[in-house]
Formats: sequence, C-alpha cells, structure tokens
Amino acid sequence: MARKKIALIGAGQIGGTLAHLAASKELGDVVLFDIVDGVPQGKALDLAQTSAVDGFDSNLKGTSEYKDIAGADVVIVTAGVPRKPGMSRDDLLEINLKVMEQVGAGIAKYAPDAFVICITNPLDAMVWALQRFSGLPANKVVGMAGVLDSSRFQHFIADEFNVSIKDVTAFVMGGHGDTMVPLTRYSNVAGVPLTDLVKMGWITKERLEEIVQRTRDGGAEIVGLLKTGSAFYAPAASAIAMAESYLKDQKRVLPCAAYLKGEFGVKGMYVGVPVVLGADGVERVVEVTLNKSEQAMFDKSVGAVDGLVEACKKIAPKLA
Ligand code: APR
Repeated sequence: MARKKIALIGAGQIGGTLAHLAASKELGDVVLFDIVDGVPQGKALDLAQTSAVDGFDSNLKGTSEYKDIAGADVVIVTAGVPRKPGMSRDDLLEINLKVMEQVGAGIAKYAPDAFVICITNPLDAMVWALQRFSGLPANKVVGMAGVLDSSRFQHFIADEFNVSIKDVTAFVMGGHGDTMVPLTRYSNVAGVPLTDLVKMGWITKERLEEIVQRTRDGGAEIVGLLKTGSAFYAPAASAIAMAESYLKDQKRVLPCAAYLKGEFGVKGMYVGVPVVLGADGVERVVEVTLNKSEQAMFDKSVGAVDGLVEACKKIAPKLA
C-alpha cells in the first residue's frame, strides 16, 4: 500500500511541529507549504535529517507551490498570523480570511478529496470560510479547537488532583474563544464526573470554576508568556490526533469544530461539538443532552461565532 500524503499549509510554529509529529509517527509523507521562500524547504530538510537519528520512513518536502500538495489525503491549515499579547483571536479575522481564500482555492484545485483540518484563528469562522472557499464537502472539513481546549482542561484537572492524565477525560464545547463551554458534568476522573468530585469534597465549586476559567484563558496565558506568538506544541498534537483518527479509521470521539445542520439547534455554522472521526471524515455528531445553564452557555458561544461569520460575510460578500 502506498504511503499516505499529508500536506501542511503554513510552515510556521505549528506547521513545523505538525511535520515533525506526522513524520515521526509515520502517518505518511509530508509536504510543508509556505509563501515565505526557504522556510518550508529548510524545515523539511532539517526534519528529514532527524529521520536518520530516529529511524522513521517518511519523506519530507518543503515547497511554495500548491501543485506539490496534489493528491494529499490530509491537509492541515495553519497559514495566517497568530496572536500577539493583548490581541484576541477575533482580531486576526480580516487578514486570515484573505489567507483562507487563497488556501481554499489551492486545496480545491489540487487536493479536492482530502480531509481538511483548519487550525487558523479565529477558528470557527475560518473553518467555515475555508469550507466555503474550497467547496469541499462539509464532512471533510473540520476545525481543530476542542481537542486542544479539552487537553488544557484535562491537564489542569490532572495537576489539581495529582492524578495521571490518562485517567482524566474532559469535554469542552462551543466556539474556540472566550465563550467556550468546558462541561464539568461530562468531564471526569476515572469515570467520576467533576460535579461528583465536588460533592465528594475533592475540590470546591469555586476552585473548579477557577480551573474552568483558566481553561477558557488557556491560549491567552501562553501568548502572554511567549510574547512573540501563540501556543504550538499542544495545537499540533491535537490536530495530529484528528488526522490519525481519519487516516486509520479509528472512529475516535473528539470535540471538533464541525458543520452543524440542525444539531444542538444550530444550522449552517461550524461550532465545537463532539463528533466521530473516521474514514468518512465527520461520521456522526454526538448530540449530548445539555441542561439549561449548559445550553445557555452554548447558545452564547454560538452567538459569538455567528458574529464573526457575519463579519466575514461583510468583508467577503461572495461568502454570504
Ligand atoms: N499561504 C501560506 N502560508 C501563509 C500565508 C498564505 N497566504 N500567509 C501566512 N502564511 C504562513 C506564514 O508565512 C507563517 O509561516 O503561515 C505561517 C504561520 O505560522 P506562525 O506565524 O508561526 O503561526 P503559528 O503559531 O503556526 O499559528 C498559525 O494557527 O493557532 C493558530 O492563531 C494561530 O492563526 C494562527 C495559526
């Protein structure tokens, strides 16, 4: 069986980390694309030389030509600009929307059968625009946010209780922004919901709320520390988990920005929800029941995403 092909559009901090992970896990051959001449080529060559040390069989190629992504099985998009301290993800909208138009055209021409994962922010609006610009089926275009947001929540919980991260499951829904919805009722330690752990006296409600808020601010905390860009290791690892589930038909249940056709009362928009990811892309949206306050938080988050989508339509009327 021929090797799979993974195209990475954007060879910056996340793009380079994605290339390293995809190659070292032997998910397939990797093509790194960027408009900055030399960077994708340099990173690909550097990474190819690690294969001698680590002994993985993946070819890496750097390029500034879209034709090199031809036939890709998976395309992961990080092209655009990241946040600087003081900026929100939404501040990136106008500039990254133009990038999505170029990237969408490139994917439509050279990799129309690919499974596409968008990471560029503001995520929920950019993945919506990328799907529109590329014209690919909505089940084959998803956004990476929920796996990352959940991983942050998981880490904070494991750290708080001093338990193995392997026994912590966390669940974050909604848009990838300040209004995201970490669901304590559906997050657990070895199957015990966090809400029960409050009753058991492991943690106070107030402390849990602080952790929820730290999860919401998880990206900004890292931007504040790095000062020159945003997080890249965990975002890359999260997208690789999604790509792997698709390529190996693992059918993992992962929170992703997925196109909704009425699920959770949302139509025609991308929002973070749990989905089954397999060989058909998004195979199923897992419509969990939300209680009144969870639904209210989710609706608020959907409203924020809707505002960004409307802003995109004003900037690019052809998306309307
Ligand atoms: N086509 C291809 N690549 C582009 C384009 C374009 N039109 N415009 C910019 N790029 C490239 C840049 O040259 C840069 O190498 O995208 C890359 C982005 O890399 P970084 O600036 O290092 O940003 P990174 O940290 O990787 O984040 C990328 O993901 O999490 C989001 O908010 C983040 O939107 C940002 C994206």
